[in-house]
Amino acid sequence: MIYTRQTDEQYIQDLKEKITELKKERNAVIMVHNYQRDEVQDIADISGDSLALSQAAVRADAKVIVFCGVRFMAESASILNSGKLVLLPVKEAGCPMADMINAEKLIAMKKKYPNAAVVCYVNSSAEVKAESDISCTSSNAIEVVRSLENKEVIFIPDKNLGRYVQARVPEKKIILWEGFCPTHIRVQEEEVIKAKKDHPNAEFVAHPECNPGVLHLADHICSTGGMFKFVKSSTANEFIIGTESGMLYKLRKENPQKKFYLPTEHLICPSMKLTTLGWVVHSLEMLVYEVKVPDEIAKRARKSLERMLRVTEDKSGAAVSGY
Ligand code: 13P
Ligand code: SF4
Repeated sequence: MIYTRQTDEQYIQDLKEKITELKKERNAVIMVHNYQRDEVQDIADISGDSLALSQAAVRADAKVIVFCGVRFMAESASILNSGKLVLLPVKEAGCPMADMINAEKLIAMKKKYPNAAVVCYVNSSAEVKAESDISCTSSNAIEVVRSLENKEVIFIPDKNLGRYVQARVPEKKIILWEGFCPTHIRVQEEEVIKAKKDHPNAEFVAHPECNPGVLHLADHICSTGGMFKFVKSSTANEFIIGTESGMLYKLRKENPQKKFYLPTEHLICPSMKLTTLGWVVHSLEMLVYEVKVPDEIAKRARKSLERMLRVTEDKSGAAVSGY
């Protein structure tokens, strides 16, 4: 197929058709995170939050998994289903929060708190997971921390998610790491207050990576997957969405009668937006870029991920309202 750019619409349509063809040829499945570009969400065989995508990776029976998301998500898929070829269409698509800690720094922290269990948010490298007792996502962090026998818990790398969990699980002493999401921390309390004033009937739904002051203003706090469930079940017709802008596409598609607003135009994760349809075509054509974790690290990281999956079973999206 020749990609003549008659119109943007035609170009996108051509790329989508090419992807459908290549997917069959390669026996591939396309997994897409909820923050991806609208047109990339359109080609998803499976879309969801980090937990749902990890669960889907375990079950995937295609030969190839093309992961439209960021590196830690593709790494988890590769660790959980090691027989598959897992591809990340853009090799630079990393998560800056995941880069805020490494195995060496975690080992030093563990020495300081020898009685603490280590809970690691999945937004972390395989090396960091390998040094952790259990992983968690934003949809099961509370359950995971509650499941531990240890009173002390080192929670890495997101301090906002860690603080959110501490408020829900006061019986534990949570030791925080100074990590954060550069996208979510940009939401300001004043912006949320203004959005609430502009849309007085709207409910404010926030991701736990937002700052505590923002979370205090939320009617509901949950993962991206939890947001779809919440919006569907809510009697409200308007929502202010405190997470990455990519969420709005499917929220609007699934709830055409409801209205959605962002509190700020800055809610864009540059890493999530790197993946385009062109890169997905390239990935399927050339079978690049393979994400493979060395066996010894994968073995230990798998323990941490599988322990989380056992705690969670199939309760993705579970979350508690208010801070
Ligand atoms: P979810 O698991 O809620 O989709 O979050 C992933 C993420 O990267 C949030 O910034
Ligand atoms: Fe990482 Fe934040 Fe982007 Fe999520 S939104 S992938 S935490 S930088």
